Amino acid sequence: MTADDIAIAAAKPAHAAVLEALQAAYLDGPWDEPAWSDAAWGSLLADPTVHVGLAVPAGADPAPLGAFAWRLLVDEAEVLTLGVVPAARRRGLGVRLLDWGLAAAAAAGATRLHLEVADPNTAARALYAARSFTLAGRRRGYYQRSERPADALVMVRPLP
Ligand SMILES: CC(C)(COP(=O)(O)OP(=O)(O)OC[C@H]1O[C@@H](n2cnc3c(N)ncnc32)[C@H](O)[C@@H]1OP(=O)(O)O)[C@@H](O)C(=O)NCCC(=O)NCCS
Repeated sequence: MTADDIAIAAAKPAHAAVLEALQAAYLDGPWDEPAWSDAAWGSLLADPTVHVGLAVPAGADPAPLGAFAWRLLVDEAEVLTLGVVPAARRRGLGVRLLDWGLAAAAAAGATRLHLEVADPNTAARALYAARSFTLAGRRRGYYQRSERPADALVMVRPLP
């Protein structure tokens, strides 16, 4: 499978349980909070300011391999979550999902997209650097789950 065999499809309210399981599979950093519940995903999917894309492979097994959720706040967009299941990483899915979000946020009128990423999350930081996100701030000790709290980096990218 390559990223070209994957479609990015908008999630529907019926995907709440799928998203809970998917997020539980991709959140594997020691800094990560637990996956959001089925009910929490249900609320997000019912919120008109929230947009969720699923990376769905072509073929018989349509189980999604990744997700990207973002919210529009007037003229700004923020990333709520992004992830790809471990078995499907480094095949371009993360960048496909991010590009989907960048295009959708720009089309919705957002002038910039911002996000938070754990300082030690080298994979995500490399992905965001590859898409020209720049550092806008640092929240010290923001991620408290691991033995050593990790800083959050606030990153931003202007949208055309
Ligand atoms: C971050 C994440 C979404 C990347 O997904 P992915 O599908 O593996 O990413 P891609 O294959 O599209 O990679 C695109 C680029 O990002 C960078 N990158 C991705 N993973 C990397 C890694 N482990 N180490 C270094 N660079 C990495 C590379 O520049 C890569 O391009 P290349 O493969 O041509 O070198 C994935 O690792 C993940 O789900 N992590 C857990 C959840 C998470 O941390 N989400 C982000 C929260 S802010």
